[in-house]
Amino acid sequence: MRFQCAAVVFMLGAVSVLGVRTASAANSCVRCHSVLSGQSFVGAKSHSWKGSVHQEHGITCDKCHGGDPDAVTERLAHIGVFSSSNPNSKVYYKSIPSTCGRCHGAEFYKFTQSYHYKKLESTGQGPNCVTCHGSMVTTILNPNDMANVCDRCHNSRMGVLPYIPEEAKAVLLLLQQDRKLMDADKLLYTSKSDEKILSAARANMSSARLEWHTFDLHSIVNYLEGVYSSLDKLPVQKRPVSKK
Ligand code: HEC
Ligand code: HEC
Ligand code: HEC
Ligand code: HEC
Ligand code: HEC
Repeated sequence: MRFQCAAVVFMLGAVSVLGVRTASAANSCVRCHSVLSGQSFVGAKSHSWKGSVHQEHGITCDKCHGGDPDAVTERLAHIGVFSSSNPNSKVYYKSIPSTCGRCHGAEFYKFTQSYHYKKLESTGQGPNCVTCHGSMVTTILNPNDMANVCDRCHNSRMGVLPYIPEEAKAVLLLLQQDRKLMDADKLLYTSKSDEKILSAARANMSSARLEWHTFDLHSIVNYLEGVYSSLDKLPVQKRPVSKK
């Protein structure tokens, strides 16, 4: 029985090596970590990167953790890699925004303009990138989870703007609805003049998504209203069901 379990774990390990071999064959971090057992903390964390947008785009472990992806041995590869609880780590919670910001400069810049960033810098408290996106998996939060994130500090017990979680949830729902509407219209409207209107809607949508990183919910809503009023300019007769 014991032996069988070990064999299964071994086989899963082998499958995961094959899964990443093509994308990142030369990267020693990926190669070695992908055969670690998922039972261990480090193994489980490592496997969570698989299938992420970052994996698809070849953003390997060293891009966020540092270290030397050309070194073969663990000791040499790990020079410069630290546990996330170590202030020298590139993924120490206060350093996360600037580590992510090397590639996501626009989001990082918006974030540095926020009250929360100043709070993170001065007291170490406040949401950072991984609070909303996960560490390696690039999740995008759903509205309920978003409300829970805000509720950690914005609640009636602490008395700090307790209406924020519900408002944040509503704004994220609105964003998702507007995006659905926009995607549906993209299939329906294909003429040159339609395309111009749709591209104005898309620009407002990008601004709304970016604006999340300032936490300014009113300003996000303004951009979302921009999406909606652009879409409203599309000729009505083509719609199967009319909008309110
Ligand atoms: C030859 C195998 C091997 C290579 C190569 C390797 N690692 Fe590791 N790594 C491990 C093992 C095993 C552990 C768990 C060590 C432990 O628990 O003490 C680990 C742990 C880690 C941790 C957790 C550190 C902590 O203290 O919490 C990170 C982060 C990490 N590795 C990143 C990397 C990066 C980035 C690279 C490439 C630059 C890399 N590793 C290359 C085997 C490897
Ligand atoms: C996009 C950036 C990014 C990439 C790529 C990435 N990580 Fe991470 N990783 C993080 C962040 C940020 C944390 C810590 C944040 C948290 O969850 O608290 C973390 C945490 C970890 C941990 C938990 C130990 C610790 O120090 O907290 C391990 C182990 C780990 N990563 C290994 C890997 C391995 C192996 C790869 C590649 C297969 C990888 N990571 C790729 C950002 C990344
Ligand atoms: C070395 C560059 C690099 C670093 C560092 C990096 N990313 Fe990315 N990230 C990318 C690329 C490339 C993409 C895919 C193309 C795009 O959407 O821009 C991406 C995509 C994303 C997405 C979009 C996912 C989606 O579904 O559209 C999120 C969210 C994200 N990254 C968050 C983070 C976070 C959080 C960190 C830090 C922990 C981080 N990234 C660090 C390069 C990076
Ligand atoms: C309060 C939660 C929150 C925090 C904190 C946060 N984000 Fe985001 N992020 C969002 C939301 C919401 C979206 C848009 C989601 C959607 O499109 O459905 C987003 C979108 C993104 C995207 C995708 C942009 C695109 O157009 O494809 C990237 C990349 C990103 N964030 C990076 C970051 C980085 C880097 C940080 C830290 C500096 C960060 N985020 C902090 C909530 C957050
Ligand atoms: C770790 C605690 C913490 C978390 C988590 C948190 N906040 Fe805050 N936030 C604060 C504090 C503290 C203030 C300052 C309140 C004051 O001015 O009295 C604040 C202020 C704000 C403000 C007013 C900012 C300004 O510029 O005046 C907004 C808007 C806000 N938060 C939105 C959010 C949203 C949306 C979330 C969830 C995505 C969130 N917060 C999560 C601690 C937090």
